[in-house]
Amino acid sequence: MGADKRRVRCIQWAIVFVILFFVGFIIGWFAKPMPVQYEKPSPSYLHEFLDEMHAENIREHLRKFTRLPHLAGTLQNLRLAEQIQKEWLAFGLDSAELVWYDVLLSYPNGTKPNYISIVDQHGEEFFKSLLAEPVPEGYEDLTDIVPPYSAFSAQGKPEGDLVYVNYGRTEDFFKLDREMGINCTGKIVIARYGKIFRGNKVKNAMLAGAKGIVLYSDPADYSAVGVEPYPAGWNLPGGGAQRGNVLNLNGAGDPLTPGYPAKEYTYRFSPEEGLGLPKIPVHPIGYNDAARLLKNMGGTASPPDWKGALNVSYNIGPGFSDEFKQNKVRMTIHTYNQVTRIYNVIGKIRGAQEPDRYVILGGHRDAWVFGGIDPISGAAVVHEIAQASGKLMQRGWRPRRTLIFASWDAEEFGLLGSTEWAEDNAKILQDRAVAYINADSAIEGMYTLRVDCTPSLQTLVYDVTKQVGSPEVGEEGMSLYDSWHKRDNWTDNRDAPRINKLGSGSDFEAYFIRLGIASARARYTKNRKDTYSNYPVYHSVYETYEIVEHFYDPTFQRLLAVARVRGGLIFHLADAPILPLNCLEYAHALIQYAHGILKIAQKHPEAMQRYTVSFDALFSAVNNFTNAANDFHQRLKKVDTTDLLAVRMVNDQLMYLERAFIDPLGLPDRPFYRHIIFAPSSHNKYAGESFPGIYDALFDIESAVDPARAWDEVKRQISIAAFTVNAASNTLNPVA
Ligand SMILES: *[C@@H]1O[C@H](CO)[C@@H](O)[C@H](O)[C@H]1NC(C)=O
Ligand SMILES: *[C@@H]1O[C@H](CO)[C@@H](O)[C@H](O)[C@H]1NC(C)=O
Ligand SMILES: *[C@@H]1O[C@H](CO)[C@@H](O)[C@H](O)[C@H]1NC(C)=O
Ligand SMILES: *[C@@H]1O[C@H](CO)[C@@H](O)[C@H](O)[C@H]1NC(C)=O
Ligand SMILES: *[C@@H]1O[C@H](CO)[C@@H](O)[C@H](O)[C@H]1NC(C)=O
Ligand SMILES: [Zn+2]
Repeated sequence: MGADKRRVRCIQWAIVFVILFFVGFIIGWFAKPMPVQYEKPSPSYLHEFLDEMHAENIREHLRKFTRLPHLAGTLQNLRLAEQIQKEWLAFGLDSAELVWYDVLLSYPNGTKPNYISIVDQHGEEFFKSLLAEPVPEGYEDLTDIVPPYSAFSAQGKPEGDLVYVNYGRTEDFFKLDREMGINCTGKIVIARYGKIFRGNKVKNAMLAGAKGIVLYSDPADYSAVGVEPYPAGWNLPGGGAQRGNVLNLNGAGDPLTPGYPAKEYTYRFSPEEGLGLPKIPVHPIGYNDAARLLKNMGGTASPPDWKGALNVSYNIGPGFSDEFKQNKVRMTIHTYNQVTRIYNVIGKIRGAQEPDRYVILGGHRDAWVFGGIDPISGAAVVHEIAQASGKLMQRGWRPRRTLIFASWDAEEFGLLGSTEWAEDNAKILQDRAVAYINADSAIEGMYTLRVDCTPSLQTLVYDVTKQVGSPEVGEEGMSLYDSWHKRDNWTDNRDAPRINKLGSGSDFEAYFIRLGIASARARYTKNRKDTYSNYPVYHSVYETYEIVEHFYDPTFQRLLAVARVRGGLIFHLADAPILPLNCLEYAHALIQYAHGILKIAQKHPEAMQRYTVSFDALFSAVNNFTNAANDFHQRLKKVDTTDLLAVRMVNDQLMYLERAFIDPLGLPDRPFYRHIIFAPSSHNKYAGESFPGIYDALFDIESAVDPARAWDEVKRQISIAAFTVNAASNTLNPVA
């Protein structure tokens, strides 16, 4: 090698070293660890987390968990709990425990079936409703499919004339009573399912004096146009019926131990004193049987909007038409209540920096039969999120805060497993819970996303859905946010996808409405314009794995999208240094709710004047809250994120904001509904009502016996709301 060549080689090496030095320097510069408390580059972990979830895994979880019926209180549901516990531990969760409670459940008597009959003048039954649904192909050998029944129905054999009460809503009974002059006292009423929670129908029937209530699924509400009944399509067959509890618990949990966990030592009311139990027999039937009951109805004709899609008159009654007048309807109900052990599975991943702050992902496991949609489409998603969390932990990740996974039992019997655990852990949860994400059915339609959440979580929901892809064919590369926005634009509010208020009817209730923990739920849903009820086979034996695989989500991409939304929410909430909660969204919502409730009151301008009813205090409080929220978020931008104590202080303000809306005294006659901004509607547990105290005081006020007293109650409720909102705004003010 000559000297020249050697010099060239030397220079080449020098250049390489210089380049390597700079590359190293640059890498070093960008990869410079953040201050020690935030050393984790979370965003990259988020994408690893979302990518770790797979459609095929969700499919397998769903198939595995829907093979056998797993009704609450049965051995099968305990076996399923043990399987989930075992698998969560195998995924790498720090712990997974079974936590049991002994709660009141309700079952049909295995030897004495429930049914509805038509009897002749001699009391002979010449028509009987089906004792069970025709079992779908492939499941014929199973013996433990519970027949359709109304859980917690009273026992009895009432007999009498039938009255058709449409959906059995408050307004339907008002119409019967005030416009049609039909007296339901001593009658058996028949109501179609849909629009409201079935327990509210039963309560309304009791208040109207009915001695029994038959619930049925009308094809107008449980069949989509152009779709075949299952198994050829996803409509409810004529022999299918909707199971479900008919309690009016108002958030109490176990009927025998309201307010306290149903442990071995807990004092129990006697079953007769149980909270929220109906006093009359209740039973659900399919539309083939309903057509037979309704066929010969006499009496008053129905208004057009009371008519369903059966080929019957929908006459209201009471009783059958002239030639059938002698015939009566009889209910035969032997359903019994029994204290039974239920099991929640509680899995935990201990937080690395803030183990005393909890983010909860909870959904139920118990199903009426197979639970193909309700709840296992949701439980399969939770399982996949737990698995993805475990995979990330194997790579060294650990969330900043503690993650709690919950598989609740006995949701179908009144949200019992979740409520008992909330009662058991209330002191800890009210101190430490950051948020609760609910994971019931992940799909109830094939159209777009549906989210119900507290206002402070809206921004996070939008952010997360922008990081998830649309599952729809032809929308490759589009975000879920854009797909959702296109399909369900919140036009009346803002240019963004619609988000709903939380009502109830699932396990978030005790966490949100009793304890004041920021909550959200997300699932795939139908088009709002479709008139059928959520999904036609709801709570029937036809909720199988196959209905999801064949119709709702053949590629499992929709369930995957829901998994990523639910998973993305808990990831951000558990891992973001500053909690991703937005008080300004709460302020915005409060302004709207205040205007909404004022508008309702203003339907009575004379009364408002006569009784000097003013909403000024409420608007003053909302204004104060808006200012406090604005200032808070201004200060938040300037928080020194390296100052652990400063971060913890603002995070506590964010976490406790939802708690500030809790009134320990609860709403009138609903002590377990303690959130002053949100409660389930008194007329439909499924729907959320804002400023429920004021709303209920104003409801039907024109027919108040003592108007002065009724308006006094409105004034009292306005002052409670104003105080609570203002007190909440104080929690956002600078800490003095
Ligand atoms: C079911 O009915 C049978 C037959 O009448 C009766 O002996 C039994 O006690 C009932 N079971 C329950 C749990 O009520
Ligand atoms: C309804 O019928 C019951 C029993 O027949 C009777 O006691 C009650 O007064 C009636 N109600 C009205 C509003 O007519
Ligand atoms: C409806 O019922 C009437 C009387 O029972 C019957 O004559 C008619 O054929 C039915 N229509 C349909 C479409 O089934
Ligand atoms: C949503 O509605 C707003 C207001 O009507 C409109 O300006 C916007 O373009 C709509 N967005 C989408 C995605 O449809
Ligand atoms: C709102 O804040 C102002 C100023 O602090 C206060 O005077 C007023 O009482 C507050 N409103 C309510 C409803 O507390
Ligand atoms: Zn459910």
